[in-house]
Amino acid sequence: MTKVAVIGAGPSGLAVLRAFQSAAAKGAEIPEVVCFEKQSNWGGLWNYTWRTGVDENGEPVHCSMYRYLWTNGPKEGLEFADYPFEEHFGKQIASYPPRAVMFDYIEGRVVKAGVRDWIRFSTVVRWVEYHPETGDFSVSVHDLVKDSVTTDRFDYVICASGHFSSPNVPEYPGFSTFNGRIVHAHDFRDAREFSGKDVLVVGSSYSAEDIGSQCWKYGAKTVTSCYRSAPMGFKWPDNWEEKPALERVEGKTAFFKDGSSKDVDAIILCTGYRHYFPFLPDDLRLKTKNRLATADLYKGVVFVHNPKMFYIGMQDQWFTFNMFDVQAWYVRDIILGRIAIPADKETLLADVADREAREEAYDDVKSAIKYQGAYVKELLADTDYPDFDVDGMCKAFFEWKQHKTEDIMAFRDNSYKSLLTGTMAPKHHTPWKDALDDTMEVYLQN
Ligand SMILES: Cc1cc2nc3c(=O)[nH]c(=O)nc-3n(C[C@H](O)[C@H](O)[C@H](O)COP(=O)(O)OP(=O)(O)OC[C@H]3O[C@@H](n4cnc5c(N)ncnc54)[C@H](O)[C@@H]3O)c2cc1C
Ligand SMILES: NC(=O)c1ccc[n+]([C@@H]2O[C@H](COP(=O)([O-])OP(=O)(O)OC[C@H]3O[C@@H](n4cnc5c(N)ncnc54)[C@H](OP(=O)(O)O)[C@@H]3O)[C@@H](O)[C@H]2O)c1
Repeated sequence: MTKVAVIGAGPSGLAVLRAFQSAAAKGAEIPEVVCFEKQSNWGGLWNYTWRTGVDENGEPVHCSMYRYLWTNGPKEGLEFADYPFEEHFGKQIASYPPRAVMFDYIEGRVVKAGVRDWIRFSTVVRWVEYHPETGDFSVSVHDLVKDSVTTDRFDYVICASGHFSSPNVPEYPGFSTFNGRIVHAHDFRDAREFSGKDVLVVGSSYSAEDIGSQCWKYGAKTVTSCYRSAPMGFKWPDNWEEKPALERVEGKTAFFKDGSSKDVDAIILCTGYRHYFPFLPDDLRLKTKNRLATADLYKGVVFVHNPKMFYIGMQDQWFTFNMFDVQAWYVRDIILGRIAIPADKETLLADVADREAREEAYDDVKSAIKYQGAYVKELLADTDYPDFDVDGMCKAFFEWKQHKTEDIMAFRDNSYKSLLTGTMAPKHHTPWKDALDDTMEVYLQN
C-alpha cells in the first residue's frame, strides 16, 4: 500500500488529513496517511503554551503565539470553504476572534472529519532520507513518550512544519550589557509583564505592530518602535513613537539612526522567523526567503529537486487556512494520480521562475494580495475543494488595510460579511482596546 508521511499537525498538516479523508468519504481509495506531530496536541501555532525555550520533552517550543492574541485579519478571509464559522459555532460570530476561539474552530473541522487517529502525537521527526534505488523515503521519528526512535518507509513526504517558529535574532552593540529584558517575539507571552514599562519594539511588520499594540493595550507606559527599511506609518497613540533603525544600546538607552535616543526597560525583537528544517538533508531541504513565490516549489507545493516531496504553507501569508486547504487538495490529487506534474525539471524550474518574476514586478500591498489570490484560484480550479469567492476575500483584505490606516487601535471593531454564507458578522460587544478578557466564553457573548 502507498504510504504518505505528513510532518506537523498544524493548520497545514490538518488540511492534508482533511483532504484525504474527504476523498475517502467520496469513495476514493486513499493511501495510508501517517502524520507526525511533536506536540501532544494539534493546532500548530494555535496550540498555545505558556512555555518558552524548550518544552516538557526538551524540544524547542513551537508556539510563537501569546495570550490575548486576536486574529490580525478578518476571519472572513481565512474561513475554511468546507466548514463555515456558523456551522462550528451555531451562529455568526464577530470578525476578529481571539486565539482560543480560533483553536476551537480549527479543531472542530478535524474532529468532525475523524482524523485524530491518523496522528502520532508527541512524536518528532528527526531525519528524512530519500533512496533513489527504491524510490522511497525513510523517516526516522522519536516517540517522546516511549523515548524510542523508529524508522519507517514512505512513498511520499509532505512537510507541513510551519515557518514562524524558529526566530531570527539579530544582535546590536550593547545588548550583552543592556540593563533590562531582551526577548524575541517568539518568546513573548503576556503583555501585562510590560505594564508601566517603556518598551522598545524592533521591526516594522505584523509582530511589531501587534505586540506593540498588545503592550499599549495592557498598560505599557510608552511604546517605541523602530524600522530597518520602512516605517509602519500608522496614526499611533500619543505614547507611541516610531523611530528609524536601532544602532546601539548603552545601559538602558537605545540610540537610533537619526541620532535620537530613548531610555527603555525592555526590548522586544519582532525581527521575523527563519525557514528551519533540522530534520531534512540538503537534497530535500527547502531554502527560501519568507515571500509569496517560494524558491524551488512548483505550483508553490512540489519540491522541484524531488517531486515526491511536498511542502504546504511555506509562503508568506495573506491567505492562510483556505490557501493551505487548496494546497493540500492539490498535493492529494497529485498523489492520487488525478493531477500530473511535468516530468522534466526545466519545466518545474520555469514555473518557479515565472512566479518569482511576477511577484517581483510589483511593490504595493494591493497587488501582493491579488497575486496570492490568483495563486489560490489557480490551484482551486484543479481540485474538488469547494469553490469560494477569492476575489471577495481580496476585497475584504483591501478594506481591512483601509481600516488599519484609519485607526490602528480600532480596526478590529469592524465587521465583515462571510463570503461563504453571506451572513454579516455581528459587531463585537466591546471595542478591542477595552476587551481585556478575551476568553472564548466572553468573546462569544454576542
Ligand atoms: C504570532 C503569529 C500570529 C499569527 N496570527 C495569524 C492570524 O491571526 N491569522 C492567520 O490566518 N494566520 C496567523 N498566523 C500565521 C500562521 O502561520 C498560520 O495561521 C498557521 O498556524 C500556519 O499553519 P502551519 O500548519 O503551516 O504551521 P504551524 O501552525 O507552525 O504548525 C506546524 C506544526 O508542525 C509541528 N512540527 C514542527 N516540526 C516538527 C517535527 N520535526 N516533527 C513533528 N512535528 C513538527 C509543530 O509542532 C506544529 O504543530 C500567525 C503566525 C504567528 C507567528
Ligand atoms: N494574529 C496576529 O495578530 C499576528 C501577530 C504577529 C504576527 N502575526 C503573523 O506572523 C507572521 C510573521 O510576522 P513577523 O512580523 O514576525 O515577521 P515578518 O513579517 O517576516 O517581518 C519581520 C520584520 O523584522 C524586520 N527585521 C528582520 N531582521 C531585522 C534586523 N536584523 N534588524 C531590524 N529589523 C529586522 C523586518 O524588517 P525589513 O522590512 O527591513 O526586512 C520586518 O519588519 C505573519 O504571517 C503575521 O501575519 C500575526
